[in-house]
This record gives sequence, structure tokens and C-alpha cells, in this order.
Amino acid sequence: MKLENNLVDWVVLQRRYLHTHPELSHRETETKAYIAEQLHALGIETYSVTGKDIIGIIKGDHPGKTVIIRSDMDALPILEETNLPFASVNKGVMHACGHDGHMSILLGISKLLVDNKASIHGTVHLLFQHAEEEVPGGAVELVEANLLKSKDAIFGYHLWQPLKSGLIGIRNGATMAGVDRFSIHIYGKGGHGSMPEETIDPTLVIAHIITQLHTIVSRSIKAIDQAVISIGELNSGTSYNIIPDTAFASGTVRYFDKDTSLLIRKRIEEIIDGACKSFGATFKLDYVHGDPPVLNNKELTSFIQKTAISLFGEDRIIEIDPILGSEDFSYYSHEIPASFTFIGVGKEEIPFGHHHPKFDIDEDMLPVGVELFTTGVLNYLKGGTTDED
Ligand code: NI
Repeated sequence: MKLENNLVDWVVLQRRYLHTHPELSHRETETKAYIAEQLHALGIETYSVTGKDIIGIIKGDHPGKTVIIRSDMDALPILEETNLPFASVNKGVMHACGHDGHMSILLGISKLLVDNKASIHGTVHLLFQHAEEEVPGGAVELVEANLLKSKDAIFGYHLWQPLKSGLIGIRNGATMAGVDRFSIHIYGKGGHGSMPEETIDPTLVIAHIITQLHTIVSRSIKAIDQAVISIGELNSGTSYNIIPDTAFASGTVRYFDKDTSLLIRKRIEEIIDGACKSFGATFKLDYVHGDPPVLNNKELTSFIQKTAISLFGEDRIIEIDPILGSEDFSYYSHEIPASFTFIGVGKEEIPFGHHHPKFDIDEDMLPVGVELFTTGVLNYLKGGTTDED
């Protein structure tokens, strides 16, 4: 399905409008209203499951399965520095992850699908999800509110700066990491720096703990099971000659398999407990299991891969390595067959990654997303062939 020039222009304009008017997670009120307005103008009925999301629904002329195509809607608390003529007018809020582009792609898909109802064998739900960037985010709320009931499959995508523009990145199985976070409070006994024998030095305790935490990946996790543990925050003390009462550290865990996450949590607890016992300190550990890994369904993903190859040619479709970032699309992927695709938007002229104040996308890839998922969903509903009608 080739896109008419005026549809391409419309999609780009939608992206620019949405880029100018970003909103933070769980507060996407105007965005939601705007999307609803656009969908209604196309003659598409909408509903909302949580009150924060907005979902368009298109029933095809033929009976069949029910699928969801998902975009996210939220922006980030970042002061934009792109100098684009359509830069954010909401100071300190910016679409710095590409979710503006995701919405414009889904609007383009909506427009094409509604014009091609006669070719739809089943029903398509166009999901504009709130709060992807926050934990807990929109996806888990939607799953808990039963969005996925009687749905056969869900498709998602991300415009992806690390991937060169023009390419489409696909992967089966665990594709994006699960993410946990933890914080450690150590309680010692403060005193004068000149008399450490009178104290229990929490700084020394936490130093031992951090060093040992870095043995978990190398000594407790099987080499083929990837994981990352990083400490991002460390606080203790107020002056050079005072031993403080407490110390604090927090960190992040990334993994691709739930058992790895459980093992890491157990090892973190054992290490902290052991170190504290040996020094006479006590502790509090807060460990939060965040988004699980994104699991791409094999059949659905190879179907998208075949569709992409037939549309854009084999040399533009690549198998990507697992990504250590997280994405709350993962919650859907643990419930029903799901597939998440990466659309390359990286260009040498824009070397700024996601969440950077100068982040920008290659708009030429917006129609690629529209074409891929419109054709993909139409063919999937027809029974999984990649032939034209
Ligand atoms: Ni994102």
C-alpha cells in the first residue's frame, strides 16, 4: 500500500503539531482531546479504558480477529534545545523520545484503515496510550482494566535513533530489558573522624556493599544470561571530619529473564545483610520490580518481518540485538501475542539520543511506519498472507 503525498504531508503536520504541544505522563489531557478530535473527524469512534488513554475502533466489512496497534502519547520533563520552528511551547516539557512521531504514524494508519474498511477482515483498535515514561505507567493500568480481553494480538513500534534511518529493526523473543530499581539505607553510628573506634562507619559499609554488588553479574549470573547492575546514586556524610550515622545508595537492574531478576534481588539482599552483620550496622532495602522484558511473539514478529521485506526490501530489515532499555509495551507482551518493531531514525546530522534536549527524528521514516503497520495489520487479519487483495 503506497501512501499518497497528501497523506505523507498530513502525517508530518500531525507530528509537528504534537511536538509543539507536549504533555507529561499521566497528564496528557490536551493530547488525548486532540487525538480524539482527529479520529472523530475521520469518522472513527473512540473509547477510553482508564480515562487517560484514547482508543479508536475500526470494524472491517468482514468478520475476523481483533487486533490493537499501539502508540504512546507522553513527553518528558526536558527543556527543548532543538531550535526547530515547531519546538515545544510548553516550557520544560519536550517530546524527546519520538512519541510525537508514534502518534502521527498511528493517525496515518487510522486514516488509511478507515478508507480501506472493505479490506479489513476483523476489527482494529488504535490505542493511544498514556504514561509510557513513568513507573507505574499506562500499559499496566490498561492491562489491569482488561483492555486485552478478547484481543488476538497487539503491534507496537518505536522510532529508534541508535538505528540508522531507513532501516527497520526486528527481533524475536526477549527484545527489551526488564527493569528493577533498588535503594539501600545503611544505619551505623556517627562520631568524630578522629575516633572511628567509637563509631560504626556507614560509608565504609556501603563502600564494601557496592564493590560486592558488582560481583553478582560476574559470579552469580550465568554468562549467557545477560544482566546489568548499576549504582547511580551514593550519599553519605556532610563534612570531612565527621563520620555520619547513615549512608544511602540507589541503583538499577536490567535483565531479560524473570528468574535472573529474582536471583539478583536475593543476592543483593544477602550481600547487604552480610556486610552489615560484619560491621555491626543495620539496613533497609527497597527493591521494586519495574517493567518486565518485552517478549516478541515468534509468529507475529516473523509476519511483520516478512511484510517489511516485501514492502521495503531485504537489505533494509535487520535483526537487532536485545536492547537494555525498557518499554512498558512489555505488559501487553506477557498477556497476548505481541510484536514490537524499531524504525530507524538515526542521522549523522542529528547525533542526539533519546531523551536528549536536542533529540530529533528523521520525518521521512513516518510514512514507512504507516505503510508497514497498515499493510501488516490488513494482511494479518486476512489470515497472515503477504499477498495483495
Ligand atoms: Ni519512548
